[in-house]
Amino acid sequence: METVRTRLVAPTASAIDEAALLLRAGGLVAFPTETVYGLGANALDAAAVDAIFAAKGRPGDNPLIVHVGQTEQAWGFCDWNETAQRLAQTYWPGPLTLVLPKKTMVPDNVTAGLNTVALRMPDHPVALALLQKSQLALAAPSANRSGRPSPTTAQHVLDDLQGLIPLIIDGGPCRVGVESTVVDLSSQIPLLLRPGAVTPEEICAVAGTCRVADSVMRPLRADETAPSPGMRHRHYAPQARLSLVRGQEKAVIQSICRLYDQSPSAAIFAFSGHVPQYGGRRVFDLGRDPRQAAQRLFSLLRQADGEGVERIFCETASEEGLGLALMNRLARAASFDFIDA
Ligand code: TXA
Ligand code: MG
Repeated sequence: METVRTRLVAPTASAIDEAALLLRAGGLVAFPTETVYGLGANALDAAAVDAIFAAKGRPGDNPLIVHVGQTEQAWGFCDWNETAQRLAQTYWPGPLTLVLPKKTMVPDNVTAGLNTVALRMPDHPVALALLQKSQLALAAPSANRSGRPSPTTAQHVLDDLQGLIPLIIDGGPCRVGVESTVVDLSSQIPLLLRPGAVTPEEICAVAGTCRVADSVMRPLRADETAPSPGMRHRHYAPQARLSLVRGQEKAVIQSICRLYDQSPSAAIFAFSGHVPQYGGRRVFDLGRDPRQAAQRLFSLLRQADGEGVERIFCETASEEGLGLALMNRLARAASFDFIDA
């Protein structure tokens, strides 16, 4: 692929204007959302969408999310329904993606040939300004090279995509830090395919009922079709080998210390309250609670790689609320390597 000069710019009005023009001309722009940075292109321009797959090195069988600036814009892309309307009314703009039967106008590469399309309205002033200015719907996956942790700062995007895309708008660190909740509304009962900041409890409360795909917390078998294709691909993986240590608090800390002491170039991912108990060992602070840990996780994985860490031992959290999203990303980054303390 030809190299291009990549510019990282502040989110000024003129930067938004320039980005909107670039998008309207079929180009790619990386922009901040409340979850992670996205790599956007005109969702109705199949060639522009192809360029996203090329820049990311993304497998063509992994569909993209279409970002809209207004709920009514989504209606043109899918067969909207009552549950979608209720969920959008409650959670849009916000970290919730809805999967619905697609209309024929949606290019096949956006949906990877599926008969459904994923839609969301991001809750970030820069993303919303870009959608508004360009008057486009934007197909936008996370702006990382495929297989790398999702980018939660503009610098992460630059680290992965320098020379591959022309423009990155810097909106500072992302507030949520893990990707949106994905819910399939194309059959009777809403099915949560990917956990995020909007929790299963919240979706059930608005939709009346919902189920969590059991693939959320276990590896797929080789012969199994993924309900959400993204779940099949190796994801979020750091270069270091990551293990998740679970059990009673005290036993976990003891186990992690023992494992760490036996491993060269190791690091520990621990919640703030436990950090002092690891003595002088090399600890990355996950923060106070699952919410902070979710916000920091991808950044810490990248930092560990940057510092040449080869082995990571990480504490776990309960799978309640936002904990499910955190544990889903951690389990995948660890290739489901759990150690019982
Ligand atoms: O928070 C987010 O959702 C971020 C920001 C940029 O908006 N985007 C994001 O996109 O995470 P991406 O491409 O990294 O993840 C999209 C996920 C994948 O797991 C994909 O398989 C799933 O959504 N997906 C997309 N279309 C789908 C469909 N029609 N049916 C089932 N899953 C779908
Ligand atoms: Mg992604």
